[in-house]
Amino acid sequence: MSAAGSAGDREVTVALGERSYPVVIGSGLLARAGARIADRTQAKQALVVSEPGVARRYLAPLERSLRRAGLRVGSALVPAGESAKSLRQAGRLYEALVRFGGDRGTAVVALGGGKVGDLAGFVAATWLRGVPFVQVPTTLLAMVDSSVGGKVAVNLPRGKNLAGAFHQPRLVVADPDTLASLPARERAAGMAEIVKAGAILDADFFARLERDVERALELQPGALVPVIERACAIKGEVVARDERESGLRMLLNFGHTLGHAVETLQHYRGILHGEAVAIGMCFAARRSEELGLAPAGTAPRVRDLLARCALPTDLPPFPRRAYLAALRVDKKRSDAQIRYVVLRAVGKADTMPLTPEEILPAAALATPAGRRAPRAGKRPAARARTRGRKA
Ligand SMILES: NC(=O)c1ccc[n+]([C@@H]2O[C@H](COP(=O)([O-])OP(=O)(O)OC[C@H]3O[C@@H](n4cnc5c(N)ncnc54)[C@H](O)[C@@H]3O)[C@@H](O)[C@H]2O)c1
Ligand SMILES: [Zn+2]
Repeated sequence: MSAAGSAGDREVTVALGERSYPVVIGSGLLARAGARIADRTQAKQALVVSEPGVARRYLAPLERSLRRAGLRVGSALVPAGESAKSLRQAGRLYEALVRFGGDRGTAVVALGGGKVGDLAGFVAATWLRGVPFVQVPTTLLAMVDSSVGGKVAVNLPRGKNLAGAFHQPRLVVADPDTLASLPARERAAGMAEIVKAGAILDADFFARLERDVERALELQPGALVPVIERACAIKGEVVARDERESGLRMLLNFGHTLGHAVETLQHYRGILHGEAVAIGMCFAARRSEELGLAPAGTAPRVRDLLARCALPTDLPPFPRRAYLAALRVDKKRSDAQIRYVVLRAVGKADTMPLTPEEILPAAALATPAGRRAPRAGKRPAARARTRGRKA
């Protein structure tokens, strides 16, 4: 597709005028990304930010490739875990940049999942008021979601992603080979955001997932690469049309209102973000039917596809008042109402101003969002622990 790549690479453009950038997807890209990175950043040197588990497997080939492209290369590792997405670790990375001799022409390259990408991106956005940034995502979620769109952030003690910026990468390099070492549960969590992309904006893509989702989760290239490509394209289109989240980009919050409530109530323990979003999407699809917005059959399709990914589909049994309290502090709240993302059909989303009580009427907790039990032979849907609390 392009001079620097091999014939099999796929490329999606995020169209943002002079800040447009390609998302390149291809097997083995990691070991030949250097030339592209040099070309897109015009940098003389690059600091690769990663974490130990990822670096052990993937840092050496990336560094070699960068050196072959003529760059001076350094690396800085942050500890594993979401708690490293902090101002403290950002501070350590500024120090690493000083020691490295980082200047305006130094690229910051994030090698890892969304945690590393958000943190390294935050540092790239703020170091010397902004230096070229490259995303090399190694989780499915990071490939299709967090690497695309330019949102970068660190967590503060008071909440997630509270300090951040918009800083678009110059390039995203997604090598699906790196997903081979990613635990199945993390893959499924990434797939939840892919299902979301289809559910809100692309019925054909949703149908494709209904045909191919198991093969994609098993990393069969013929199934996986087109899925990553289309999911990136959908996110890229949304971002291109609404970079700063004023309208269209809100649709990406499908499943996230209640998903965030679940994450909050579980104190982010025992549940992955994609799992919480899966629960939130099932619930929102069902509410869309109940409110007469989506035709009957919409919610079962969403739920069945997520269940096939072994994702949870039922709300954990917290009391309604706990959910309502969590919804009231949701970021997307404006006055008493929340711009809740609903489905008009599979592939068509909309927002609707609703109060927390309207989102979650008492009757909605009486039947679980999934309604049907998972089919025999599949992994149980409700893996998420509710830490012993009773409804
Ligand atoms: N900026 C955005 O628009 C955006 C969007 C969604 C999520 N996020 C952020 O992304 C983060 C979540 O990202 P994530 O789901 O990628 O989680 P993550 O970065 O924490 O990675 C998940 C786990 O997989 C491991 N890992 C990463 N790559 C691996 C590989 N190839 N093989 C084996 N293990 C690997 C990590 O060490 C970690 O344990 C959160 O901080 C979230 O806030 C940002
Ligand atoms: Zn999400």
